[in-house]
Amino acid sequence: MPDRDGAAALNFLPYGRQEIGDADIKAVVEALCSDWLTTGPRVGQFERAFARFCGAAEGVAVNSGTAALHSAMRAVGVAQGDEVIVPAITFAASANAAVYEGATPVFADVEADTLLIDTSCVESLITPKTRAIVAVDYAGQPADYDALYAIARSRNIAIVADACHAPGATYKGRMAGTLADISCFSFHPVKHLTTCEGGMTLTDNRDYAAHMRRFRNHGIDSDHRKRDAEGTFAYDMIELGYNYRLPDVQCALGLAQLERLPHWVARRRTVAAWYEEALAGITHVCPLRVHADRTNAHHLYVVRLDLSRLNIDRARAFSYLRENRIGANVHYAPVYLHSFYQGRGYRAGLCPVAEKTYQEILTLPMFPAMAQGDVARVANVLRALATLR
Ligand SMILES: Cc1ncc(COP(=O)(O)O)c(C=O)c1O
Repeated sequence: MPDRDGAAALNFLPYGRQEIGDADIKAVVEALCSDWLTTGPRVGQFERAFARFCGAAEGVAVNSGTAALHSAMRAVGVAQGDEVIVPAITFAASANAAVYEGATPVFADVEADTLLIDTSCVESLITPKTRAIVAVDYAGQPADYDALYAIARSRNIAIVADACHAPGATYKGRMAGTLADISCFSFHPVKHLTTCEGGMTLTDNRDYAAHMRRFRNHGIDSDHRKRDAEGTFAYDMIELGYNYRLPDVQCALGLAQLERLPHWVARRRTVAAWYEEALAGITHVCPLRVHADRTNAHHLYVVRLDLSRLNIDRARAFSYLRENRIGANVHYAPVYLHSFYQGRGYRAGLCPVAEKTYQEILTLPMFPAMAQGDVARVANVLRALATLR
């Protein structure tokens, strides 16, 4: 993808784009000039501010969404030999986190019109080894958590939300970040707010939070603040953890970005409304459905192509959009079709709805700075797909 200046020169519309303003730059410079580049006060400030935004009791900042998922797997006790149910259509990290802990992902099919985990498939996938379900809030719409808890609660199965797409979304009036035992977020640049790379877990369970704080710091039972307070140098590493810490410089960026998060979520909803209007008459393009009990934070704007109305396949549609300088993308191939999972014995045919729908989906540009004219341009190019042979 061309960089921002190059993209503007080429009139290229990327599928996602961060916004860095003067307040972000000032906050980062202040952090750089402070005594604390990492493990300092901005980490806790960012954790508390993001947890407050979502309505959760505890936040644990880490250096990627993937680290957040891995921390959540460890905290809920996923271990060697366990099974973790994951929707087939998601970023690979949702499943890989279980593999890191020696567990086996079990892929669930998805609803064709939302690409959310199909809760009617989940019950039949449960075995005595099932330890957790990772629910993915695909594209920014929360999964059906009540249905998942109805299956999981009596069996002592944990629910982890992969809410990387969903800060600001709601389910039955409740915010993403409060819907599962642990919720995981990513602050990669295409996400709602960025720390360059970064992530956070949110939870109301203080034991989980304490465990994840230890896990992100090598499994060590105290930090420098606690040792200073106790006047000791001694510490103990009580489990195998990782260095998943998010530096203060990046937390400073996250704090500054968080100020604009409500505005950005609102802008994404406006852009989505423009798309809905602009695509209304194009019968070969179908936006995803949003359930009536949810609001969508619109990380991605995904449409399905009705291939029966076109003479081309999705690959040609993708390249046609690119030829017209529209940065379409595809999120995602069913995870188990990747070579790594094929090598572990997963086979095509496992989740038929996911496999069919994967052939139809396209991600269209979606970011807060988009104008209505950008949406009209995308719609015109999509309309012209019907003329291709
Ligand atoms: C659904 C989902 N889960 C997990 C991740 C992993 O986040 P990160 O890239 O911050 O590790 C992403 C980010 O791409 C994602 O979209």
